[in-house]
Amino acid sequence: MKESVAVLDFGSQYAQLIARRIRELGVYCEILRHDITRDELVSKSPKALVFSGGPASVLNKDHPEVDPGVFDMGIPILGICYGMQLTALMLKGKVAGGKSGEYGHAVMEIVKPSILFSGMGKHLDVWMSHGDRVQELPPGFEIIASSPGCEIAAMADPSRNIYGVQFHPEVVHTPKGSHIIKNFLYKVAGCSGSWTMAGFIEESVERIRDTVRDERVICALSGGVDSAVTAALVGRAIGDNMIAIFVDNGLMRSGEADEIRYIFTKEYPLNIHMVDASKEFLNALRGVIDPEKKRKIIGKTFIDIFSREAEKVGGANFLAQGTLYPDVIESRSPRGGPSATIKSHHNVGGLPKHMKFKLLEPLKELFKDEVRQLGKELGLPERLLKRQPFPGPGLAVRILGEVTEEGLSILREADLKVQEEMQGYDNIDDVWQSFAVLLPVKSVGVMGDERTYSNVVAIRVVTSLDGMTADWVRLPYDILEVISSRIINEVRGVNRVVYDISTKPPSTIEWE
Ligand code: XMP
Repeated sequence: MKESVAVLDFGSQYAQLIARRIRELGVYCEILRHDITRDELVSKSPKALVFSGGPASVLNKDHPEVDPGVFDMGIPILGICYGMQLTALMLKGKVAGGKSGEYGHAVMEIVKPSILFSGMGKHLDVWMSHGDRVQELPPGFEIIASSPGCEIAAMADPSRNIYGVQFHPEVVHTPKGSHIIKNFLYKVAGCSGSWTMAGFIEESVERIRDTVRDERVICALSGGVDSAVTAALVGRAIGDNMIAIFVDNGLMRSGEADEIRYIFTKEYPLNIHMVDASKEFLNALRGVIDPEKKRKIIGKTFIDIFSREAEKVGGANFLAQGTLYPDVIESRSPRGGPSATIKSHHNVGGLPKHMKFKLLEPLKELFKDEVRQLGKELGLPERLLKRQPFPGPGLAVRILGEVTEEGLSILREADLKVQEEMQGYDNIDDVWQSFAVLLPVKSVGVMGDERTYSNVVAIRVVTSLDGMTADWVRLPYDILEVISSRIINEVRGVNRVVYDISTKPPSTIEWE
């Protein structure tokens, strides 16, 4: 039986992060509902259990619980925050509501040597976020660490291998958090750490095959990392029964559509169904200036074409989507059910009523960098995996005003110069996005002895962690200089280049 650890989810925003840390440490991990029964758990034979935190209070009547039988399973348990308080309460300790909680950084003192903190100093920086606290230890437990705001910051019953920590070892603000989780997995639970991304592929392939059997699956290939990895993974599982539909909307960057075609027919062949719909999109966008209208039209046109093509392909009961964990909206039941329900993507929510698909979301537990790693393991080309985020509506939101063939051609050319010159930037790996925007204004210039009256192109280069906030990159002047002169000299119809120095917020990354 494969070595695995179960994270019981009490509705924590961090349950996925705990799982991610465990995976990073080479141990396969599954997130399960907190109300799973002891018997169900036994059938999965995990090597250890981790109880997540959660928004509820154990002092409230209807707080989420765990099957009391799990404490007798004889496997190690680590309770985190709410998970620790619940452990304390269920094992006959006492929990009290704090008058004031403890939130943020704290320095914790290790008051009794414990295997959980082995290899660490006497003091640890930890991240606290709690209102309640354990007031009285359950029988058999001892205090192993205290913080100024919480005497029982960590507790242990080494004879039963049950541990509780009030702080959050899974967040980066607890610098030695990973080490603590590692001690729990390796030293307490005796895990061997043999799990890898290759193991994840095997697992997923098995699961996909079990779910899909010999039915057909379609997916929408956008050219982005998530849909590509999804298609590759599902393709690995069921071969040609996975049909990837690639709708070329004519709004991609220079060479991109050809590149995708090349990758998925020659380099990494998948059963791909390609549609050139550029004319259809351009027609639908004719005369439209309002940014929101443009987005709506593009969304609707995509749905129309995708459903039409899906019907052409025919016979598919499943739709595979590259939903990642951060796409998953947190919305919890008061009883702390699984912390996440799924946001419906526009290409599902918007599909015609008669097209009912069962959803397949094989990446939904992963973070972006894990998806890249998975893509690498699947053998997808690096240049695809390193691709910058690109908005669904494509260049249409980077041409301010009406989208025309001419505008697209100018923007593609200008954007290509940005891409080429950015390759010479030493910190390119820190750049979230770099692109050109075609403005709906003309300005006066002079070329040779001639007066010109032409387009203005803006350059946007930003850093960001998640696209939610962003800062403009202080690009070296010499790179800006070459970008500007190449665009003005080599792209017909542009006589001025400006650099966007706005942060998000209050500006957005895209101009529309
Ligand atoms: P904004 O412009 O809102 O963009 O600051 C944040 C990030 O999201 C990308 N973006 C989109 N991605 N569909 C997408 O898949 C869209 O409609 C869309 N609009 C913006 C944008 O490129 C940036 O990375």
